[in-house]
Amino acid sequence: MRVLHDSVIPLVYYCNSRKQTMGKKILAFGASSSKESINKRFATYAASLIHDADLTILDLNDFEMPIFSVDREKELGHPKEALEFKEHIRNADGIVISFAEHNSSYSAAYKNIFDWVSRIEKDVWLQKPMLLLATSPGGRGAMSVLEQATTTYSRSNPNVAACFSLPSFHDNFGESGIIDDKLKASFNKKIKAFSEAI
Ligand SMILES: Cc1cc2nc3c(=O)[nH]c(=O)nc-3n(C[C@H](O)[C@H](O)[C@H](O)COP(=O)(O)O)c2cc1C
Repeated sequence: MRVLHDSVIPLVYYCNSRKQTMGKKILAFGASSSKESINKRFATYAASLIHDADLTILDLNDFEMPIFSVDREKELGHPKEALEFKEHIRNADGIVISFAEHNSSYSAAYKNIFDWVSRIEKDVWLQKPMLLLATSPGGRGAMSVLEQATTTYSRSNPNVAACFSLPSFHDNFGESGIIDDKLKASFNKKIKAFSEAI
């Protein structure tokens, strides 16, 4: 597993996927810039369940850019951070994102990166299989941002394989992953669907 930031501790979880994904390259990140992001933890956990995959975990702090505007774009062109982010997408066989919800929508850090990357080419996700996740400390589990992402990205990418929201993160997630049996069973089905899509 490649971890592109010091703050993530690689975690080893059991694997429940039966599909052979030997050598598949999975790109995963929490759509948050919090140092202690629960979404980064959740995305890392989900990606670690993909059998025999080669994981790259991004930290959005490594892709900080000026707030996007068409004027800044005229001035700067495509920032190297945006080009680098796009290369990670290009190199991946599958993408796992867990969205932080800020005021019912994307975190500013994620949206800024998305806006910059969307100017390199319109097809941001390059039709790659995607697993879209979200979690929050609250009971809705960041469902609003997940619905937004799933609706929008599915429109341009038919390979959005599955989505899942984990409510009440601090009650439902422990050292070895999802605690609640029903949530775990439902989540494992999403992992299976994604594994089969990559
Ligand atoms: C500015 C701000 C707005 C937030 N808005 C929401 C919200 O609309 N819905 C929600 O469930 N949680 C909201 N939260 C709480 C986040 O879900 C919580 O901070 C969570 O840890 C964010 O994910 P992260 O740890 O991956 O950054 C908000 C937090 C902040 C700082």
